[in-house]
Amino acid sequence: MKIFVAGATGAIGRPLIAQLLAQGHEVVALTRSLEKGQTLAEQGVELAIRQSLRFANADVFDADAVKAAITRVQPEVVIEQLTSLPKTYTAESMSAASALNTRIRREGGANVLAAAQAAGVRRYLRQSIAFWAIPGTGLADEETPLAFDASPAVAADAHIVTEIERDLLGNPNLEGIALRYGFLYGPGTWFAPDGDVAQQVRQQQFPIVGNGEGVWSWLHIEDAAIATVAAAERGNPGIYLITDDQPLAVCEWLSAYAQWLNAPPPPQVSVEDALRISGADAVYYGTQMRGASNAKAKRELNFQPRPLEWMVNTAVAHAS
Ligand SMILES: NC(=O)c1ccc[n+]([C@@H]2O[C@H](COP(=O)([O-])OP(=O)(O)OC[C@H]3O[C@@H](n4cnc5c(N)ncnc54)[C@H](OP(=O)(O)O)[C@@H]3O)[C@@H](O)[C@H]2O)c1
Repeated sequence: MKIFVAGATGAIGRPLIAQLLAQGHEVVALTRSLEKGQTLAEQGVELAIRQSLRFANADVFDADAVKAAITRVQPEVVIEQLTSLPKTYTAESMSAASALNTRIRREGGANVLAAAQAAGVRRYLRQSIAFWAIPGTGLADEETPLAFDASPAVAADAHIVTEIERDLLGNPNLEGIALRYGFLYGPGTWFAPDGDVAQQVRQQQFPIVGNGEGVWSWLHIEDAAIATVAAAERGNPGIYLITDDQPLAVCEWLSAYAQWLNAPPPPQVSVEDALRISGADAVYYGTQMRGASNAKAKRELNFQPRPLEWMVNTAVAHAS
């Protein structure tokens, strides 16, 4: 298939391009900077299949340029992986990036979706987020309501996810698929050994809040790419939670992660102190976050995620 990828040079975009080409697809990668985009998007792509990769140059905020690019390419499928997230993962950097990241997802995404519809694209997949389900017992599935009453940033994200998924899935002119990814790890992410969270953990600046009962669902970026290709090829329109098999409470994954990095054990802070120092969102992530079930992706996409990298040799109980 001919596939147009927006966000092709980001953390998921790079392994996604390699996977799509390896499966024999023809790919056109959108980038704002052709030279930088080419260097990034070709990472991990074998020379022999590079002839199936081309580039389109546009800023997603330029609706006319995006429309012209997609109309010119005439793809059968569009995959949107747009974000504008900082290289560091702190309350301050995330808060500073929030306005542009929201604008990219809303306005940028709307421009790409409108252009795809105008060009008669058959299928449209977009990045979404797995971790905004309402807190509760057990794992969330695709039907679980989102956390609209959570901390301010989480509630805002739950509203954005609802809005962008509604605009896509409610569009009668194309087959829409929302891929709700778990916390991404792997090369180029915050959780890679050279990433920002690893650095914070080494400096004991990434604490367990309260009892560390918040449950995180993880996803290696290569698995994100594999699941995305499967969804593009044979997924059903709708929502898929794309997460690994082992949702883990913070007290479990963070301790094992520190050990894996040869870092000192993570410090613990009380909920009250975390609230005062880092804010309500940090407390939510640390104590209330709910894990997600990948049962639908396993059933319909034959998704077989790898075990969390730093838990492989560690015996832990599964959180559920
Ligand atoms: N679920 C999760 O946990 C999750 C999800 C996403 C990201 N993250 C994390 O966030 C960090 C950064 O992620 P990332 O590498 O994907 O983000 P990024 O480096 O900001 O890349 C985002 C992609 O969006 C494109 N883009 C951004 N603004 C654009 C614009 N105005 N017009 C056209 N294209 C635009 C970029 O293309 P060009 O620069 O080539 O134009 C790039 O391909 C990583 O550590 C990652 O792990 C986590």
